[in-house]
Amino acid sequence: MTMNLAPDVDGIATAAEVLRTGGTVGFPTETVYGLGGDATNPRAVAAIFEAKGRPAFNPLIAHVADLEAAQKEGVFDAATTALAKAFWPGPLTIVVPRRTGGTVCDLACAGLASVGLRCPDHPAALALLRAFGRPIAGPSANRSGHVSPTTAAHVLGDLSGRIDAVLDGGATRVGIESTIVGAFDGQLMLLRPGFITREAIEQVAGVRLVNPADDANAPLSPGRLLAHYAPQTPVRLNAHSVLPGEALLKFGPGPVPGEAQAACVLNLSSGGHLAEAAAALYAMLRELDRAGARAIAVSPLPRHDLGEAILDRLARAAAASTFCK
Ligand code: TXA
Ligand code: MG
Repeated sequence: MTMNLAPDVDGIATAAEVLRTGGTVGFPTETVYGLGGDATNPRAVAAIFEAKGRPAFNPLIAHVADLEAAQKEGVFDAATTALAKAFWPGPLTIVVPRRTGGTVCDLACAGLASVGLRCPDHPAALALLRAFGRPIAGPSANRSGHVSPTTAAHVLGDLSGRIDAVLDGGATRVGIESTIVGAFDGQLMLLRPGFITREAIEQVAGVRLVNPADDANAPLSPGRLLAHYAPQTPVRLNAHSVLPGEALLKFGPGPVPGEAQAACVLNLSSGGHLAEAAAALYAMLRELDRAGARAIAVSPLPRHDLGEAILDRLARAAAASTFCK
């Protein structure tokens, strides 16, 4: 049985107790729901991998209450310290070298010499981190390869009976996963685009972000290589019209040729706002996936700012659905 907890004093205390005993708790953050476990306890981390059906070579983000807690786990230089100070608490994960004596276990880091750290900007997540007092390992709370959850109901849809509890904090504000920046040999790499844009990071760090070359033999961020964020229905990007039998995910006010015949039509943002589109993306993909359509046609979106992260998730959904065919 998975307990459904309110994000109040009692719910947080119960969730912290579950973590202390090595259990797993779905918890809200400002991006998507995480599947939390004690990052210092390999058995708890193994339970996360098992519940998700996630390959153990893919490392987990360790969530921390503040920069001080992060500095006990990883080595921050001037640039990564500036990023943490500017964007934490917030939707930025920073991958830094692990510190000797750090408490995050090897399994959570998938044996890498680096650790991914993030201080989330959500009152329930921060209250849980403070009550627990240790880093919380937290991948997105979905079955591996599924769309990330933005409500507690999504978490239960994927993981009910497989995890101990979920803290219900309502729908998440940002809607897509955190931006991930990695510091390697003095260079900063954008490992995953997200709500904190490339431009904002470059401005604070004072350097250009390097794009990682995807090398299957030495992946810097193993999750980049996996089929991800995939609905069952094939996804067709950059669609200027709707084909017979398709559902439509549109963006902006304009009409799309063929939409009157579409199996289902949802608009990410009729006013054309990227933040609104990011927040709606995963819930709409789930809903369109249930429409029984031949494919989900997706209208063109701008590539700038938050558009980069939204298009990244859509491209993964499209690639994964082609891959499955
Ligand atoms: O917004 C988010 O980041 C959410 C919330 C719950 O915090 N978490 C999340 O976790 O999206 P997950 O596990 O679904 O994605 C984390 C990504 C994975 O692709 C993983 O490969 C990468 O972060 N990652 C974690 N630690 C890393 C490390 N040491 N080096 C490189 N990549 C790392
Ligand atoms: Mg994930």
